[in-house]
Amino acid sequence: MADYPRPDSGPAIELVDATKRYGDVVALDGVSLRIDHGEFFCLLGPSGCGKTTTLNLLGGFLPLSSGELRIEGRRVNDMPPHKRNVNTVFQNYALFPHMTVAQNVEFGLRMEGLPRVEVTRRVDEYLDLVGLTSHGRRSPSQLSGGQQQRVALARALAKRPAVLLLDEPLGALDLKLRHQMQLELGRIHRQVGTTFVFVTHDQEEALSMSTRIAVMSGGRISQIGTPREIYGRPADRFVAAFIGESNFLAGSIATDAAGSEFVLDGGERMPLASGLGAGPATLMLRPESLAVGPVGSAPGPWIRGRVVGEAFIGNHTRVTVNTAAGALVVHRLHDGRAGEVVAPSKIDEEASVWWSPDAAIVMEASERGVNDGSFG
Ligand SMILES: Nc1ncnc2c1ncn2[C@@H]1O[C@H](COP(=O)(O)OP(=O)(O)OP(=O)(O)O)[C@@H](O)[C@H]1O
Ligand SMILES: [Mg+2]
Repeated sequence: MADYPRPDSGPAIELVDATKRYGDVVALDGVSLRIDHGEFFCLLGPSGCGKTTTLNLLGGFLPLSSGELRIEGRRVNDMPPHKRNVNTVFQNYALFPHMTVAQNVEFGLRMEGLPRVEVTRRVDEYLDLVGLTSHGRRSPSQLSGGQQQRVALARALAKRPAVLLLDEPLGALDLKLRHQMQLELGRIHRQVGTTFVFVTHDQEEALSMSTRIAVMSGGRISQIGTPREIYGRPADRFVAAFIGESNFLAGSIATDAAGSEFVLDGGERMPLASGLGAGPATLMLRPESLAVGPVGSAPGPWIRGRVVGEAFIGNHTRVTVNTAAGALVVHRLHDGRAGEVVAPSKIDEEASVWWSPDAAIVMEASERGVNDGSFG
């Protein structure tokens, strides 16, 4: 296997208070982030949140309106794209249609003025990396979508950039191929060790592939963290709702000399470890961390409600319960344990929904959330 040069440790990319305006539109609003060498870093967010804008700033295809961009510690605000140690894979692949696969990979290397033998060696090496050694003489039109994507990857990586930028590279592929290419991209990333900055609006793709994710919304970063942090401790309601499925129960925080409590609308009180300010608040609970059963059967904090829906989904049953604090969706997983008897919920029946205290996250009721809403 080829020996790929490993980059240094430390920051590959630093954006400091970066703003990008298109006329009156503020596409990026004071974004700061740091991406370390070797990361598979994902920009995730809904359409129009500023993902492509961020990538184009990194690639040098757009100038910043204000702020600073550093690549490998060096300020590059005014450096043209071809001088930056980054390369881009576009969603539409952007292959040269009149060149063969090998010529596509070769082109950038020749422009760089690499010696002939080195060019040939690199073309072989990177076509091998993406599993297209036997396709070098074909034209791009004789390849499938997934294969064209691999050529675009080989072409971009052959120049050995410190950072590879990928804008929704799997967006045009069907689901099965998309899953295959996700695994492929993961393998290639591990093999070459290049820093990947990957744009997607697909949360599952981001969760399964990234070392860290920046969740974006309206030109800002809502949260940066590992997939587990983002899913398990969402910073605010937007992140909680965008990543996975979430329940939000209305309530308030009450504080006295003894400490803080979260008080659910409709009754239940739970002690809070952190001293959040008193006032309206929201309790966030994932459907899979809830259990539902007859009234009075709850071993943990609970809320009473009425079952209004039950749907068998295969590996789980989705139960919807209306409570005084809001509607709750409960996923009852079918874990197939022998002897397990779970009485089915009946529509219109009174029920208790309960959870373990550490599964609940308290957020401010307003737009901005609280990170440290943990229970005592
Ligand atoms: N050239 C432009 N002129 C004016 N506004 C623009 C321009 N390019 C992007 N915008 C606006 O900037 C915002 C961010 O756009 P951007 O393309 O970065 O979003 P995105 O997150 O990549 O979305 P998508 O998931 O749809 O690709 C949007 O409101 C968009 O309408
Ligand atoms: Mg985009």
